[in-house]
Amino acid sequence: MTPDHGQLIYEGKAKRIYRCDLPDRVFIEFKNDATAFNALKRAELAGKGRINCQISASLFEMLQSKGVLTHYVGVAAENWMVAQSVDVIPLEVVVRNIATGSLCKQTPINHGMEIFPPLLDFYYKDDSLGDPLLTKARLRLLDLIEESQLKEIEKQATLINDLLRVFFDSLDLILVDFKLEFGFNDQGKLLLADEISPDTCRIWDKTNNHPQDRILDKDRFRKDLGEVVESYEEILKRVQGVTSKPRNYK
Ligand code: TMP
Ligand code: ASP
Repeated sequence: MTPDHGQLIYEGKAKRIYRCDLPDRVFIEFKNDATAFNALKRAELAGKGRINCQISASLFEMLQSKGVLTHYVGVAAENWMVAQSVDVIPLEVVVRNIATGSLCKQTPINHGMEIFPPLLDFYYKDDSLGDPLLTKARLRLLDLIEESQLKEIEKQATLINDLLRVFFDSLDLILVDFKLEFGFNDQGKLLLADEISPDTCRIWDKTNNHPQDRILDKDRFRKDLGEVVESYEEILKRVQGVTSKPRNYK
């Protein structure tokens, strides 16, 4: 089912954003396209759009119930979300609880090392530059946001990590690391935006110690481990097991 959306505003690698009849709202279509390594690797994964939309919706609902301000409004169809229209800040805010991925490629830090307090890094969101890691000094030099807004983003990202970790832990899932994006709505309010899904998080199965079998996120695609959609579906099943009555589409 496709909602009665307006004009296409923006197409990213995993989502399309469309106008809505309300000026402060948008429709977000979650695509089945999977990309990795700055889109050098591509595939079409049937079902991914639906699963990521539903997982994101459930996680946004959980975070909103704990007082986190997000762009999420509701779900319009299986892979369509309604959200507040936001000006997204071109920053990828990455929080890491366990060392893996680029952190272990770029430093001698051992894969699997627990990180406490969690590591919070900013990357500049620009595919043509390869989303470079920023120092705080470079972030300030870029002058994208005010100092107080930077502090607020750090505070929100830390809170979101605490809430997500506890939530995933209750589902026997380990939140290894994840990426957030923030934006401002038309009132100038800072909101969590984008998505929270196995495309943007690393999530391991707590009940499985096998270093590859326990991976339930996009690393299965990045590393050619197979069963990508099945693993995403497993996360959805656990997330919905605790959050959902069946959703009414608007
Ligand atoms: P990294 O270890 O490759 O830097 O990734 C850290 C986290 O950020 C991981 O959970 C995956 C997520 N991520 C994105 O959502 N988009 C991206 O483009 C990249 C590189 C990572
Ligand atoms: N999202 C990025 C890309 O497409 C990188 C990644 O998630 O690995 O290319």
